[in-house]
Amino acid sequence: MRYGYFNDEQKEYVITRPDTPLPWINYLGCEAYFGILSNTAGGYSFYKDARLRRLTRYRYNQAPLDETGRYIYLRDDDTQTAEYWSPTWQPVRRKLNEYECRHGLGYTTIRSSLAGIQAQLLYFIPLGENLEIWQLSLSNLRTQPANLSVFSMVEFCLWDAVDDATNFQRNYSIGEVEVVDEVIYHKSEYRERRDHFAFLACSEKLAGFDTDREAFLGPYRGADAPLGVERGYLSNSIAHGWQPVGVQQFKLHLEPGEQHETIFLLGYHENHQEEKFDPPGTQQINKRRVQPIIQKYLKTEEVQTAFQQLKAYWQGLLEKLKVQTPDIHTDRMVNTWNVYQLMATFNFSRSASYFESGTGRGMGFRDSNQDLLGFMHLMPERARQRILDLTATQLSSGGAYHQYQPLTKRGNNEVGSGFNDDPLWLVLAVAAYIAETGEWSILDEVVPYDNQPGSEESLYGHLKRSMGYTLSRLGPHNLPLIGRADWNDCLNLNCFSEAPGQSFQTTTNKDGKVAESVFIAGLFIRAAQEMIRMAATRQDPDGELYLHASQQMAEAVWQSGWDGSWFLRAYDNFGEPVGSKYCQEGQIYIEPQGMCIMAGLGIDNGRARQALDAVAEKLATPHGIMLHQPAYTRYYLNLGEISSYPPGYKENGSVFCHTNPWIMIAEAMLGNGAAAHDYYLRINPSKREEISEVHRCEPYVYAQTIAGREAATYGEAKNSWLTGTAAWNYLAITQWILGIRPEFEGLRIDPCVPPEWDGFRVERTFRGRQLHIMVHNPSHISHGVSRVELDGREIEGNLVRFTAEGDEHQVDVWMGS
Ligand code: GLC
Ligand code: GLC
Repeated sequence: MRYGYFNDEQKEYVITRPDTPLPWINYLGCEAYFGILSNTAGGYSFYKDARLRRLTRYRYNQAPLDETGRYIYLRDDDTQTAEYWSPTWQPVRRKLNEYECRHGLGYTTIRSSLAGIQAQLLYFIPLGENLEIWQLSLSNLRTQPANLSVFSMVEFCLWDAVDDATNFQRNYSIGEVEVVDEVIYHKSEYRERRDHFAFLACSEKLAGFDTDREAFLGPYRGADAPLGVERGYLSNSIAHGWQPVGVQQFKLHLEPGEQHETIFLLGYHENHQEEKFDPPGTQQINKRRVQPIIQKYLKTEEVQTAFQQLKAYWQGLLEKLKVQTPDIHTDRMVNTWNVYQLMATFNFSRSASYFESGTGRGMGFRDSNQDLLGFMHLMPERARQRILDLTATQLSSGGAYHQYQPLTKRGNNEVGSGFNDDPLWLVLAVAAYIAETGEWSILDEVVPYDNQPGSEESLYGHLKRSMGYTLSRLGPHNLPLIGRADWNDCLNLNCFSEAPGQSFQTTTNKDGKVAESVFIAGLFIRAAQEMIRMAATRQDPDGELYLHASQQMAEAVWQSGWDGSWFLRAYDNFGEPVGSKYCQEGQIYIEPQGMCIMAGLGIDNGRARQALDAVAEKLATPHGIMLHQPAYTRYYLNLGEISSYPPGYKENGSVFCHTNPWIMIAEAMLGNGAAAHDYYLRINPSKREEISEVHRCEPYVYAQTIAGREAATYGEAKNSWLTGTAAWNYLAITQWILGIRPEFEGLRIDPCVPPEWDGFRVERTFRGRQLHIMVHNPSHISHGVSRVELDGREIEGNLVRFTAEGDEHQVDVWMGS
C-alpha cells in the first residue's frame, strides 16, 4: 500500500493523506539554520546545533504524534459556529476535503481545502540566511465573500534543548520576549550571556498576538483547541517565564475567487557583544541589523527569488552525477533522493531526526567519515573542511573522540574515545577525497590533535597515527583489539554490564587486552591499501611498513579469523569466538564478510565466494540482509548491548541497512552483478514504497534498520534518514554496480550490472570536467570491459586519465570479455 507517489519530474515525493504510518519528514536548510518538518507541519528549527541552539520545541513520545510544529489555524469569522481548522491537518486534525504534501529538495508545500477555502503553505529557508519562510496562500472558492481569522503559532525552546526539557525549576522563570512593530522577539537569557534571539514576523497588519502559551491555549487545553482561536481573538500577552510562544492573528476578507498571499518569517539573529542593546544601557534587543533582513523577506518578490535560487542550488548539485539505467528505482534514488539524504547525513550526522532527539549525539567520528565517502563529489570544499574538523578531534594517541558538538567542534568528553575502528575511517575518507579531487595537498594541511594549539601535524601524519593506533593494539591472535566497540557499537566485549541503565557505550569492566575484532582487521587492510599508495606518491619509506603490516594482518585473519565457511566476527574477553559455527547463537555476522572481502581477502582463493554464499543462505531475506543469525534470544554479559535488543531488532539481527551495501560491493568485486543489484533493490526505499504499510518509514530515504526475520514486526523500518546507509548505498550503486569509480590516477569504469541490462548512461562531473559516459552491454554480461573510447579514440584498459584538453568528454564503454 502507498500513501503517495514520486513525482520524478519535480523531484518531489507527494503524500496524499495526512495520516501516514509515522510522520514523514523533510529537512529545510543547507548551511547553518535548519528545520525538520513533517507532512503535517510538525517539527522544529535550530541554528547549527540541535542541542545547543534550539529555536522551537518538539515533544518526542507524544500522543497524539508529532507535536509541536509550525502551525496555522484558519477560523471562519462568518459562521456562528466559529469553525476552525489547520490547513496542514495538525494540530486540529479536522478532516480536510483535499490534502497534499509535497516534500521537495529543501522545501515542502502542504495544500488543502475545507469549507471552500483553499490553502497552500510553502516552507523553505533561503540560501545564506538564518530564517525560514512560510508562504501562505489562501483562496476563496465559495460563491460568497469569506471573512477569516488566520493564526500562526510556534512554541519557543529556551535554546539548550536538554536544559529546556529538564531544568524546570530554572527555566519556568527565565522566559522573556519583546514585541515591537508587530514582530515577536524571543530573547530568553539575552539579558545575560547570550547574544542571540529568535523572531517571528508576518507581512500582515496584526489583529493581535500572544507570547504566553497559557494565555493562548487556555488552561488545560492543547494546540488542537486553543482558546484564542476558538473565541476569535488573542490577548496580546507578554510572557514572563513559563512557556514563551509566538502567536499572531490577522483578519482577512476574501471576495469569491480571490486569492491572498501572506509571509511569515521565523528566524535567528546574533548581535555583536558590544552592541547587544539599543539604546545602549537598556535591556532592549538591538534590532538594527535584523530589521532590514525581516523587511526584505516580507516581500513576495524577494521570497520568489530566494525560492528560485534554492531550486537552482539543488539542481546544480544533482547535475554532478546523473544516471539513466533500465531500473526506475536506481535512477530515482541515485539522481535525487539518495543524494538528498547524503546532504542530510553530512549536515546532521546522527544528531537530529525524528529518531535522534538532537540532544544526544553530535557528529560521530566514524559516522561523519563514512558519510563523506558518498558526499565528496557534491561539495568537495565542504568535504575538505569536514575532514579537517574531524581530524582536529583526533587524539595524539591516534585514537579519536567518538563524537563532537557541531557548534563548538570540540570532542565530546561524556562519550570519550576507545572505539578502536574510529581512526581508520579517517584514512578512507581522506583517500576518497583525493580520488575525487586529485588534490594531494590536503595531506600537508597541518591540524592539531584534540584542538590543542601547539600539537599541529600534517594530515598525513594524523593518518599514520591512525594506522599506528591499530598496530599498537593487537591481541592474542594478532588481530586488532576491539576496545569499547568497533563499527557495531553494540558489540561490547569489554563491558560486562550488570547494572540496569548503565551505558554500554562508556562502561568498560575488562582491561581490553583480549577481545579482538576481525572486522577491524579487514578495515585495517583496506586502509593500508590507501596508505601504501599515498606513501608511494610521497616517497615515504613507511609504505613498506604498511605493506608488511597488512600482509601480517591478512595472515592473522586466515590463521584465526576464518571459520571454515565464513569470516569470524571477533574473539571475546575469554578468547572465545563470536560469529562462529561453534556458537549457539550469532553464528554468522555480516560485517566481517563485507569488510574482509572489500579488503580483497579471499577473492583469489575462493573463500570470498564461500562467505558470500553463506550470507545468501543464512542472512539474506526479501527485506534485506540481516546483521547476524541466529539473533540472540537472551542477554549475554560477555557480548553487551547487542544482546540487549529483542531478537530481530537493531543490532540484534535486524537488517541493519548500513551493512548491506558492503555485500553488494563484495558481490560486485566477484563479478556478480545480478546478486549485487538484487540486494540493492531489497532495501531500496523506492522499491519498498509499495509495501509502505509494512515498511512504515518514508519511502524516499533509507532507514537505519528493518526488523529482521525473528522480529514480530518483520520488515518494519525504523530510524529513517540519519544513517551510514545513505553514503554506502550510493557508493555501492554508483561506484561498484554502475562501476564509475574515482581512483587516485583517474576514473575507473568497471560496471558490474544485471546481465539483462543493455547498458546505461552516466553524466558526471569529475575534477572540473563534464563527462558523458555511455556503457553498452551488447553481449549481456555482468562484468568485464572490452573497449573504452575517450572522445572517439580507444584507450588502453578501463582507467580514464583525461589527459585530453577540454571541459567536456565523451566516454564510450563496451562490456565484453
Ligand atoms: C549507528 C551508529 C554507527 C554504528 C551503527 C552500528 O548507526 O551511528 O556509528 O556503526 O549504529 O552500531
Ligand atoms: C545505541 C544504538 C546504536 C548506536 C549507539 C550510538 O547503542 O543501538 O545503533 O550506534 O547507540 O551511541
